[in-house]
Amino acid sequence: MPYQNSRISEVAELLKKRLEGLENKADILKAVELRALYSEITTLPAEERASFGLEINQLKSELEELVNSHEPDSAKLDHIDVTAPYDVNSPAGKRPQLLSSELGSRHPLMTEMDVILDIFYRMGFDAVESRQIDDDYHMFGSLNFPEDHPARDDYDTFMTEEGLIAPAHTSTMQNRVLKQFKDGLEKGQDIRVVIPGRVFRNEDLDATHEHTFYQLEGVYVGKGIHAGHLIATLKTFLETYYKQDLKVKTQPYYFPFTEPSFEFAISRPESLRKGDNRTEDDWLELLGCGMVHPNVLKEAGIDPEIYTGFAWGVGIDRLVLMKYGIEDIRHFESAKLEFLRQFK
Ligand code: DAH
Repeated sequence: MPYQNSRISEVAELLKKRLEGLENKADILKAVELRALYSEITTLPAEERASFGLEINQLKSELEELVNSHEPDSAKLDHIDVTAPYDVNSPAGKRPQLLSSELGSRHPLMTEMDVILDIFYRMGFDAVESRQIDDDYHMFGSLNFPEDHPARDDYDTFMTEEGLIAPAHTSTMQNRVLKQFKDGLEKGQDIRVVIPGRVFRNEDLDATHEHTFYQLEGVYVGKGIHAGHLIATLKTFLETYYKQDLKVKTQPYYFPFTEPSFEFAISRPESLRKGDNRTEDDWLELLGCGMVHPNVLKEAGIDPEIYTGFAWGVGIDRLVLMKYGIEDIRHFESAKLEFLRQFK
């Protein structure tokens, strides 16, 4: 672009030459020479100032255009199919080979989940899967967590500014399943549902803590249901899963959504002590449980004067860890083939 003013032409030529050698092209827009031109305006006779200013702006636009023309132009790139099952976006001949499907196997957590669900099916429970994206109402409000209550801090997880939450427990589903099945109560059909699902927490990771893991929630509501039913149900399940008699105990705990709330522990038998050098019997806290809080029942439209129920939430990874004597929970999400192939 020709410039009337020789001073500006001079700077234009200088900067365009410099631009070629610049790694970060946008730096040219910050050149001292360009800034100097602006400060020269005030030294000029009044009648020359306007056209001089206009030409500096023209120069600046020209430089901006040159900078932009060096930006990678994404429109020029081939489209990428992000849904492709393998890298179809690489040129033919350079595509990675797929592992043949016979070499793959089910993830041990999914295999064990089926074993666990099967035990509960035989005990008369239905299964409903939890969601991997949920909201504040199902995560907290419907579960009797008051606004800003510190109990919320125990469930620190990932959330978007729009209020979507990666759920920190499967209890998010309690309100939904209670509503879904409550019509059966009047006909004498108890609500009995288990809820498998993937949950997420802001954790410091170590051999027993993962940010992503699986839980199995359970809810049972009917007439005359009490804590004895809760203990018997969990004991029966655990003895069936571990194929042996177990000593169990409950100790008091706090959850906003149950009253009373318990921690459920088993006395760890020899066979579940693999990979662990403790010898004496030790109590192992396995899960949280309790009698469903009247406010949780009310919130779902169930009269707590007529119906009572129990609920629990157990970490699946933890159950499987103990069953096989696996030393580190992080193996499950690691995608390490050496680990996974042992469960084929
Ligand atoms: N949601 C609790 C947790 O993840 C576990 C739990 C405790 C679930 C008590 C329940 C319950 O249903 O009644 O820490």
